[in-house]
Amino acid sequence: MDEKQPLLEFRDVDTYYGSLHILKDVNYSVDAGEIVALLGSNGAGKTTTMKTILGLVRPRDGRVIFEGKEINGLPTRQIVEMGIAPVPEGRRVFPKLTVLDNLKMGAWTRKDRDIQKDVDRVYTLFPRLAERKNQLAGTMSGGEQQMLAIGRALMARPRLMIMDEPSMGLSPILTERVFDTIVEINKQGTTIFMVEQNAYMALEIASRAYVLQTGEVVLSGTAQSLMESDLVRRAYLGGS
Ligand SMILES: Nc1ncnc2c1ncn2[C@@H]1O[C@H](COP(=O)(O)OP(=O)(O)OP(=O)(O)O)[C@@H](O)[C@H]1O
Ligand SMILES: [Mg+2]
Repeated sequence: MDEKQPLLEFRDVDTYYGSLHILKDVNYSVDAGEIVALLGSNGAGKTTTMKTILGLVRPRDGRVIFEGKEINGLPTRQIVEMGIAPVPEGRRVFPKLTVLDNLKMGAWTRKDRDIQKDVDRVYTLFPRLAERKNQLAGTMSGGEQQMLAIGRALMARPRLMIMDEPSMGLSPILTERVFDTIVEINKQGTTIFMVEQNAYMALEIASRAYVLQTGEVVLSGTAQSLMESDLVRRAYLGGS
């Protein structure tokens, strides 16, 4: 495989809901090893981007490429099996299953049965989940459910983890803890493409970012350059 090939690419992607044009000629590129953030206001098309990666929304034009292969026509199951694990918006754990069973569900794409090592790894990253392994997921706090959603995604041993607003509804302290864990997960070898409204936090851990406005990429670059840009400061960092 070409070493310079991005792990994930959008090439001129257009998506629609009925006649509503959502993503407009969008290009993204995520390299292996990176944390890339996708910023943008409500309704910009961030979740639509994540759904497009997973094949839940099909582009009308353009291509989505993962490890050099076009994936935009593939069934979601196959896309996930290729090594992409979602941490969806609003967490969505299985409420009637225990923490441990939720984690096991995350390994469904795996052919091997040796998942204990991965369960242990998740417990090391999130000791809270170890303490609560037999608790029903639906009775966990919002922050604990977010940890579980991330842990479950890790169980698939993904090469790319796509996260939709991991800080949503979390206190600042918990957000910080979750973001520290995202950095740790990335250090352990998982590439991360994350949607975040908390631009400041996202740019602190990302290497690069894209800014989406009403379906168009209006800005992209290194996290540092975005942090210094007027547009980002005004729109997302509360500057004037
Ligand atoms: N199933 C759908 N049918 C019709 N329109 C939709 C559908 N899903 C999303 N939209 C619209 O598409 C646009 C983009 O939605 P999307 O969920 O991608 O935004 P977002 O950037 O994730 O916003 P938020 O920050 O609020 O989560 C919005 O205007 C939304 O109302
Ligand atoms: Mg969204």
